[in-house]
Amino acid sequence: MTIRDVQDEIVRLKKENDICILAHSYQTHDIVEVADFTGDSYALSKLAAKVPNKTVLMCGVRFMAETVKILSPEKKVILSSPTAGCPMAEQMDKEALLMVKEQFPDHTVVAYINTTAELKTVCDVCVTSSSAVKIVKAIENENILFIPDCNLGAYVANQVPEKNIKLLRGGCPIHAAVTVKDVDTAKRRHPDALLLVHPECVPAVSEKADYVGSTSGIMEFAKNSDKKEFIIGTENSIAQHLQYECPDKKFFYLSQGLICRNMKETTLFDVLNCVKGNAGEEIFMDEDTRLKAKKCIDRMIELGG
Ligand code: 13P
Ligand code: SF4
Repeated sequence: MTIRDVQDEIVRLKKENDICILAHSYQTHDIVEVADFTGDSYALSKLAAKVPNKTVLMCGVRFMAETVKILSPEKKVILSSPTAGCPMAEQMDKEALLMVKEQFPDHTVVAYINTTAELKTVCDVCVTSSSAVKIVKAIENENILFIPDCNLGAYVANQVPEKNIKLLRGGCPIHAAVTVKDVDTAKRRHPDALLLVHPECVPAVSEKADYVGSTSGIMEFAKNSDKKEFIIGTENSIAQHLQYECPDKKFFYLSQGLICRNMKETTLFDVLNCVKGNAGEEIFMDEDTRLKAKKCIDRMIELGG
């Protein structure tokens, strides 16, 4: 069976079984090709409530499948690989946050969407990397407790200096591992290239970038730019997708280590087995958790537009 045969079979089965495949843009190209929609966390969250199908297969990590379930409880939601979690989403539990909140009773708790549904139940509003600045600006309270990513939080604090933003220690182990030395090496090798980075990178790296933005922000910037060469400072699949879409431009990895093993757990064969009903994990959530977590996702969509 060739890759094309597998893809054709997936497309046939998803139609037959009324399944919508959502893929985060960190998925591999062969999966993106069979997905109904591909995008960043914000785009996928907004789509989650709108797709008409009875079943949604989320090719990504657990918090993304949970977001779909929170917004569409009547749908059957399948996570493509049961062990695909986001390590950052596991960094803080509800009890720990409740203790921190006691110290900051007058702060609005802003949670990166890369958090568990359980943690969202005690937060006020969610953000994604593409919507964080807009949403934090729109919050009335000037005191913000931003969890769990202190690098995205520092980026937001920089863009919204009028707010008092309290950060905690946490973040993406993949993006935070990129160093200034990686930047210097990449820039030396590709002196004509623009550096585009995700705000999950440490501030010392983001400060050296020509553009800082979400996965979709980076892709849009590169596609619309007149420049021909780009160093991509986010998961390496973004450089690969861009290379497919813009064959006349050149894309380089900022670091060979920018690979999210959790996002890469799902293979094309897993997708095939999921649409056959033989793989993946169905997401279940108690109604109390869902309704409480939904409040901060609804607020995100309301403020983020
Ligand atoms: P986006 O918000 O850019 O989709 O990023 C999600 C993520 O997990 C980044 O590591
Ligand atoms: Fe989580 Fe980082 Fe992977 Fe994104 S890249 S899913 S933040 S571990």
